[in-house]
Amino acid sequence: MKFTATATAFVIATATTGSHAFSPVATPSTSSVSLQASRQPIMAGNWKMNPCTEDDALDLSKELTKLLGDETCPIDDANPLCTEVVIFPPFPFISQVSNVVADAGITIGAQSIYFEEKGAYTGSVSAPMVLSMGCEYVLCGHSERRTLFDDNDQAINQKVHKVLSSGMKPILCIGESKEEYDLHIKNEVCAMQLSKDLANVTKEQMKNVVIAYEPVWAIGTGLVCGSAEANETHAFLRTILSRMYDDEVAQATRIQYGGSVTPDSVDELMAMPEIDGCLVGGASLVAEKFGRIINFTTQK
Ligand code: PGA
Repeated sequence: MKFTATATAFVIATATTGSHAFSPVATPSTSSVSLQASRQPIMAGNWKMNPCTEDDALDLSKELTKLLGDETCPIDDANPLCTEVVIFPPFPFISQVSNVVADAGITIGAQSIYFEEKGAYTGSVSAPMVLSMGCEYVLCGHSERRTLFDDNDQAINQKVHKVLSSGMKPILCIGESKEEYDLHIKNEVCAMQLSKDLANVTKEQMKNVVIAYEPVWAIGTGLVCGSAEANETHAFLRTILSRMYDDEVAQATRIQYGGSVTPDSVDELMAMPEIDGCLVGGASLVAEKFGRIINFTTQK
């Protein structure tokens, strides 16, 4: 679909339904959200359709467990400084990988689910299935699912609800394409995705939602969005969350950056006040690289 700035503004103004309608007349000032909150860092590794064999997946998992730092732990309200680590192996490896990493404090997630509970849906995997294998997180709305598998915002919203009602946590991925970036409609696109993908998600449920801002042009390309620009976009997303919910939700929600994150870029990204973690693809397949990313050194 081709966008123009005018068309997109119109779409956003008219497409927001349910409890989250907002009026994007102008790009809101990010200064309207000023509360401070401590958000536990969350580093996630999205293995995508890698590696090719279970043996390789187990080797990678074992290597990774050796590289965790002292400041790594599962989600922990009492210790907001420790970094939560989540990995998303392909479905067939979830169970075995989970056995390897569970004791090391690494959490497991699924890369997708189908929103139905069970039934005649050949090739699909349901929320109860991945929950029963120990998954705590599910990626929803990843750009590869949106573009290669036609996941639209309605389907993504259904997944988000299914993940939450099943007792797991969605990492909702949003982000603009290169074309949208060049048209300077990044904010509008992200606001629209947030609004549609979180439709009818309650304030209470938002405690279990993580957002991943992933500019599509930065995914797998080696092009990292500049840390200052990513920070600005995250601040904008908090303004939208504040409009959809309130400042408390806007400040409490963890927002990851994703797109070609490497050991070289992680410290600068994590030094930014609005960036709470990274969603890492390629670099999460190399234990040393992901280990370095988990153990980012910059203190805010
Ligand atoms: P990348 O992937 O780190 O390889 O760019 C990120 C992602 O797809 O989440």
